[in-house]
Amino acid sequence: MDKLKHSLCMYLLLQCLLCAAASYAAAAAFNISNIPFSKGFSPLFGEGNIIHSQDDQSVQLHLNQFTGSGFKSSDLYNHGFFSAKIKLPSDYTAGIVVAFYTTNGDIFRKTHDELDFEFLGNIRGKAWRFQTNMYGNGSTNRGREERYSLWFDPSKDFHSYSILWTTNNIIFYIDDVPIREITRKEAMGGDFPSKPMGLYATIWDASDWATSGGKYKTNYKYAPFVAEFTDLVLHGCATDPLEEVVGPLCSEEIDEQLANADFTKITPKQKLAMKKFRLKYMYYSYCHDTVRYPVPPPECVFDSAERWLFKENGRPKFDDKTRRRRFKKRAQVMSAKNYENQEDV
Ligand SMILES: *[C@@H]1O[C@H](CO)[C@@H](O)[C@H](O)[C@H]1NC(C)=O
Ligand SMILES: *[C@@H]1O[C@H](CO)[C@@H](O)[C@H](O)[C@H]1NC(C)=O
Repeated sequence: MDKLKHSLCMYLLLQCLLCAAASYAAAAAFNISNIPFSKGFSPLFGEGNIIHSQDDQSVQLHLNQFTGSGFKSSDLYNHGFFSAKIKLPSDYTAGIVVAFYTTNGDIFRKTHDELDFEFLGNIRGKAWRFQTNMYGNGSTNRGREERYSLWFDPSKDFHSYSILWTTNNIIFYIDDVPIREITRKEAMGGDFPSKPMGLYATIWDASDWATSGGKYKTNYKYAPFVAEFTDLVLHGCATDPLEEVVGPLCSEEIDEQLANADFTKITPKQKLAMKKFRLKYMYYSYCHDTVRYPVPPPECVFDSAERWLFKENGRPKFDDKTRRRRFKKRAQVMSAKNYENQEDV
């Protein structure tokens, strides 16, 4: 009984904490310039399914019954800020994966680094989900997945998805909301990405696992599936990873620029938005998964509200609907009390 009371109490506390953060700010762009597609990128596969816009600012990746498609940056970058506005395929998208990620796996096959956004399609009427992940120096047996749903329909409008990678931290952004931050810890060793990486985007058929563990396959009756990319950003120090002499100067310069950029400093308002996002939309985290990692990896930082929300298998105690309903109710009560002015987080 006491345990139940304690649980209820924690839950109410959690909602209270969030009531001041009921909505996200409109997508404010970071102060950074875009790069035309053909200036920064080249085809990776399925070249016939890569469609450029006339002004070279946008590109579509198609998936049909013959092939998916993908592009990659022509250069590799030693630290950087990588971003694109993306619109995902709509309607029936089960089995499809759209990935937006940095990697150097083409060059360092056994010791590659990687930072991922992976969007997982769904059956009609069910929302896209996505995951983020990190690998360093070939740490493929130590996945660091987090999985989430979204607060909007990513197939309706363009939203920016960004990856910041500096010497000390990594931040994943959606629009200007930081959704995940990893701060480098000494104990991580090579698990923190440390070699120059390129930016990649792909669409492909992952019928065997992407949707409900492979239950729903890609249905080519709905093809072609089209992912659109625009406002591409490659802000980093272009480096030849095999040429050790070139680069240190530009590396220092970019590190300094990154350290001072607006997207490197998370404001208190953004911090609150991140916390809210993670409590409301995250549905798996390796840090909370003590079955898989009895000793949490060194970079895991535990927010008490977040920790309380997750079970030992890294999944939330409550289903999506229950979480949403509780949060919504709370927001309604607060706005009825005229607290709207506190909600613009
Ligand atoms: C954006 O960045 C440029 C140079 O990178 C700078 O000159 C300009 O003042 C910045 N604008 C804002 C609004 O911060
Ligand atoms: C990366 O892995 C290689 C091969 O396993 C190892 O020799 C090297 O020391 C590692 N680097 C770091 C920074 O841990």
